[in-house]
Amino acid sequence: MAPELSATDARISVDAIRDRKGGVPIVCLTAYTYPIARLLDEHVDLLLVGDSVAMVLHGYKTTLGASLEMMIAHGQAVMRGSARACVVIDMPAGTYEDSATQAVASARRIVDETGCQAVKLEGGVDVAAQIAAIVAAGIPVMGHIGLQPQSVESEGGYKIKGRTEENVAALFRDATAVEQAGAFSVVIEGTVENVAADITRHISIPTVGIGASGDCDGQVLVTDDMIGLTVDRVPKFVKQYADLRSVISGAAKDYAAEVRDRTFPGPGHVFTATSGKDKA
Ligand code: KIV
Repeated sequence: MAPELSATDARISVDAIRDRKGGVPIVCLTAYTYPIARLLDEHVDLLLVGDSVAMVLHGYKTTLGASLEMMIAHGQAVMRGSARACVVIDMPAGTYEDSATQAVASARRIVDETGCQAVKLEGGVDVAAQIAAIVAAGIPVMGHIGLQPQSVESEGGYKIKGRTEENVAALFRDATAVEQAGAFSVVIEGTVENVAADITRHISIPTVGIGASGDCDGQVLVTDDMIGLTVDRVPKFVKQYADLRSVISGAAKDYAAEVRDRTFPGPGHVFTATSGKDKA
């Protein structure tokens, strides 16, 4: 049962997340909707309104289907459904790459229209100026290095990072650039385990791994993947903790059968003139 929300509950701050470097692992899950935020809020430190919402809920083939308006609408729902977790919202592709001015304007819209604690954007050295400008504008930033889903088309697929010496060096440059630009933490996605662990030891801000290493300072998964709700491809690195696809499909099957044989609605699901109840 989800807890009642209270406007006075203090959220976990970005500073508290930064202070978890090397400490108790940071727990992060994605959330895109009010009910899921309500259910997850008491269990996690961070709720990420990821641009994966474009694929998971809207059926796009890649995260490039996400727009600023989409992220803001889902961010508002997650803020309404949570009171405790630190909420981070993804900046979608096309809203920050061009310039620091564009990045600050997009980040400002996300924060002003949702009230979230921070934004996340993909990239390393290439977006360091954008991260620094957003942080200078007073908006906390989470970085995202390694496999970057927004680059899936230009990269020709979801490719694991850190397999060559050259790429490992680039990952370290990215991690350092994100740290020095002022990010409070960084997601490391789809990266060879020991490389993600080495980066975690190398930088002073917490790393949050996904398909990376158990030695990262925290972990994140796409909630729909880990509760078995994702209908398309689930990445190999996901551990499935529940099988909600079967639960939903089974419920729909039972309902359909009962409607067809007229056992639903039963006596408890209809109103009679004498039942004395006015409310549905
Ligand atoms: O969009 C997303 O859900 C993400 C996580 C996979 C880290 O960026």
